[in-house]
Amino acid sequence: MHPWFRTLTEEVRDRPLPVEGTVPDWLDGALVRNGPAHFETAEGRVNHWFDGLAMLRRFGFDDGAVRYTNRFLRTEAYRSRTNGDVDATEFGTGPTSLRRRLESLLVPTATDNANVTVARLGGRTVALTETPRMVVFDPETLLTFGTRQFDDEVPGQWTAAHVEHDGERGESVGLTVRFGRTSSYHVYRLPDGARERIELARLQVGEPAYVHSVGLTDRYVVLPEVPFTADPRRFLRPGIDSFVDAFAWHPERPTRVHLVDRDDGSVSSVDASPFFFFHTVNAFDDGESVVLDLVSFPDASVVEGLSFDRVERGVREATGALRRVRIPVDGGRVSDRTLASNVALPRTSPTVRRRPYRYAYAQRTGEGEFTGLARVDVERAAERVWSERGCFAGEPVFVPRETARRERDGEADGVVCSVVLDRDAERSFLLLLDGETFEEVGRAWLPHALPLGFHGEYFG
Ligand code: CO
Repeated sequence: MHPWFRTLTEEVRDRPLPVEGTVPDWLDGALVRNGPAHFETAEGRVNHWFDGLAMLRRFGFDDGAVRYTNRFLRTEAYRSRTNGDVDATEFGTGPTSLRRRLESLLVPTATDNANVTVARLGGRTVALTETPRMVVFDPETLLTFGTRQFDDEVPGQWTAAHVEHDGERGESVGLTVRFGRTSSYHVYRLPDGARERIELARLQVGEPAYVHSVGLTDRYVVLPEVPFTADPRRFLRPGIDSFVDAFAWHPERPTRVHLVDRDDGSVSSVDASPFFFFHTVNAFDDGESVVLDLVSFPDASVVEGLSFDRVERGVREATGALRRVRIPVDGGRVSDRTLASNVALPRTSPTVRRRPYRYAYAQRTGEGEFTGLARVDVERAAERVWSERGCFAGEPVFVPRETARRERDGEADGVVCSVVLDRDAERSFLLLLDGETFEEVGRAWLPHALPLGFHGEYFG
């Protein structure tokens, strides 16, 4: 088993890390990341990488030093799993007893194992996954405050794990999916500091698609509805062990792209060639079109490819293509082109969200013996790459230098932070790359090997 998928039980608190090279002294916030770190159950292990128990990891920066804390979320999933049970319907792992399985099919119990990402929502710092249950935690100590759900008028048993924040409008935008006799997508907005979401648009759907993130421009919420869909009646039939089992790929169907007007909630929809995706990269309006960049796959086989029976045969990463999809707002033909290959977990500078931009940061995947990092120049289709043999890098988070925060020209003036696992050393390190040169500035060694995480945020 690759150490990326090996359980880590050790938790440390506020430990200073030895640094090779330097940590810029202007870095004074904290990088908080989320991801699975415990993969065992009473009967062995969870089936799917996405089902490991959530562990938060925090890197606090102060005057050139790094302090590290890692802690499991103390959730119902954590309590039951560490006693050996999986008692809710998780992504690819079913409940462990037949009785529980039947109960969960009739009355689905959403997991609170929020292992996907972190965000500031409604004035709180939360860990998020694809169920409506989020976990509130202390961003300094990583102590778990408790599991919460929104108590509002927006329905849905499923949510896109990623929520887009718009600092100019002072709101976050997200999506829920309601499965039932009639199913629907619900695009919502959540004003900063508010505790209740406001439904912006509701779209009826026969077979809901799997949605992990949406695009956001100044004018539109962009919902690409991929042909990886679930017949809601299948949830009630025997033989469905997990949520993902209810989904099937339909290559004969298009990906339908919906544009939801952020002011009045009106929706226009257009068909594109079928593709699958987890992550949008960025989106913006260019007057005639909505430009949506995402990391796409030709089909949904990547979902199965991340289950452990596949992963055990070697690290098979989610390696996709960075594509630019152009959606004319007058209803014309959707066009798309490839900007880069072999990328995953894409990010941009926070200063260029919803704007024409130049640099996308991503994992460079597909090598097998290592996973690097890439900075893709989306305007010139040029790349800079960092890699080291035997080293496996996670999602790169770009932190702009303070003076560059408002300028597009500064979208590479800062550092790229990524947690890298050194397989031979059996330890991880926090890698800092200069955004301009993409060369190493420094690395801070952790006391252990961290399993691969999903997403994180830098809180300034
Ligand atoms: Co994600």
